[in-house]
Amino acid sequence: MTQDELKALVGQAALKYVVPGEIVGVGTGSTVNKFIDALATMKDQIKGAVSSSEASTVRLKALGIPVFDSNEVESLSVYIDGADEIDPQGHMVKGGGAALTREKIVAAQSKQFVCIADESKLVDVLGAFPLPVEVIPMATARVVRQFAAMGGRAVVRQKDGQPLVTDNGQHIVDVQGLKITDPVAFETEVSQWPGVVTVGVFALQKAQVCLLGTSQGVKTLNF
Ligand code: 5RP
Repeated sequence: MTQDELKALVGQAALKYVVPGEIVGVGTGSTVNKFIDALATMKDQIKGAVSSSEASTVRLKALGIPVFDSNEVESLSVYIDGADEIDPQGHMVKGGGAALTREKIVAAQSKQFVCIADESKLVDVLGAFPLPVEVIPMATARVVRQFAAMGGRAVVRQKDGQPLVTDNGQHIVDVQGLKITDPVAFETEVSQWPGVVTVGVFALQKAQVCLLGTSQGVKTLNF
């Protein structure tokens, strides 16, 4: 099966975690796009969605799924999102699509995080994929130096020759060369650096379930 087919498989499998009559938390990315397409087939059974990005909002609305502001909703039963990496404990690296801040906000208001990913995303230790960090523009150079002092190589993500601007008006620093052996401690520390809006390690809010697309079908990992 191709990676695209594996993404479609887990996107479809995630439907069984959607609670009829409720609002569902929806993440961002190419795997989530498959989930949104599948969700459209049961749109009459749900109230709508809280979305983690402008891109997902556009796709949800185009398919006729109502999108609620996160402030209108106290709590969600489930949040369904992809990951750039996931370890055997359910800790993740996220933010390849630059949506990490809103993803963490929607994950925080959800009782269960269901991660959907193809098997290439499962790693023993986080750190192979460049770690995204959303940073206030005036702090990027300092944050790059702080990662260098930790042994990481950090660069400001570019788009069309300019620093990429997130949905929140901030920049993304991508960090390579780190082995994140204690994700909770790492997330706690980097989140406190001045100018850091969100670090792409999701350990304090890890996944409870991962639906992993493999050539043998969907594997369910419970954490
Ligand atoms: C976006 C994310 C995505 O969930 C992550 O990048 C995985 O994306 P894809 O499903 O396209 O591989 O965190 O900010």
